Amino acid sequence: MKTIFNWAMLAEYFYNPSFQLPKRDIPVWIGKRIFGEEKHWKCRLAAVKDFIGTDTQKPRRILDLCCAGAYPSRSMARETNDFFVGLDICSKSLEFARERILEENLIERVRVEQGDILSIPFADDFFDISFCIGGFDYLDEFGLNKFLNEVKRVTKEQFVFTSISTEAKRRFVFRFGLQDHFNKKHNITYHKFYTKEELLNILEEKGFLNPKITKAEYTWVLSVEIS
Ligand SMILES: C[S@@+](CC[C@H](N)C(=O)[O-])C[C@H]1O[C@@H](n2cnc3c(N)ncnc32)[C@H](O)[C@@H]1O
Repeated sequence: MKTIFNWAMLAEYFYNPSFQLPKRDIPVWIGKRIFGEEKHWKCRLAAVKDFIGTDTQKPRRILDLCCAGAYPSRSMARETNDFFVGLDICSKSLEFARERILEENLIERVRVEQGDILSIPFADDFFDISFCIGGFDYLDEFGLNKFLNEVKRVTKEQFVFTSISTEAKRRFVFRFGLQDHFNKKHNITYHKFYTKEELLNILEEKGFLNPKITKAEYTWVLSVEIS
């Protein structure tokens, strides 16, 4: 395993108790141990899985937007017979994802590709389901509009996503600058916190149907049907 540090490794560190960071990173370590990031990431993933469901007869084609190391896809692939494609802009994260997919023998049902969620490199209606964990909040108004149009174009049935809620602003991790550290380190220049009402308005304006919303540790998890 190469010693690169990126979102893929950060996510793996939060999701997977046996994964060790190759480089000591004190703010990330504090995030996991003191502020419970491990619990938060796991709760978010569990809520996404509940919406997507694992009990299907026919294998589905599922798009993992902003996949980083594709931990959610790898985890769901072990519980279903679905096919997963992860999309991320960061080549180093994808390199990490490919190593894990190979190691875990999931190459038949999980693959990752480099691309921009604002211009998704797949044909119309290619996927049954799309999901995005930790990508929605980093988009400004222009980006969000483009992103949601793209999601509707490539997805047939369902879109599931997470959004850190406004109450997270009160958390130490945001108050005392750790979020700034993460943002600088991972080249994110923007982070928006939405209320439940704002999220439901955005989805309604975009014509998504039957929104379902749940809360998982400072995070909204939403599922909508595609018209
Ligand atoms: C918080 S991480 C995602 C974590 C991952 N979904 C998980 O649960 O393990 C955010 C990811 O979004 C990716 N990203 C940011 N902007 C993007 C864009 N425009 N297109 C594709 N990926 C993007 C970053 O490279 C990063 O890997």
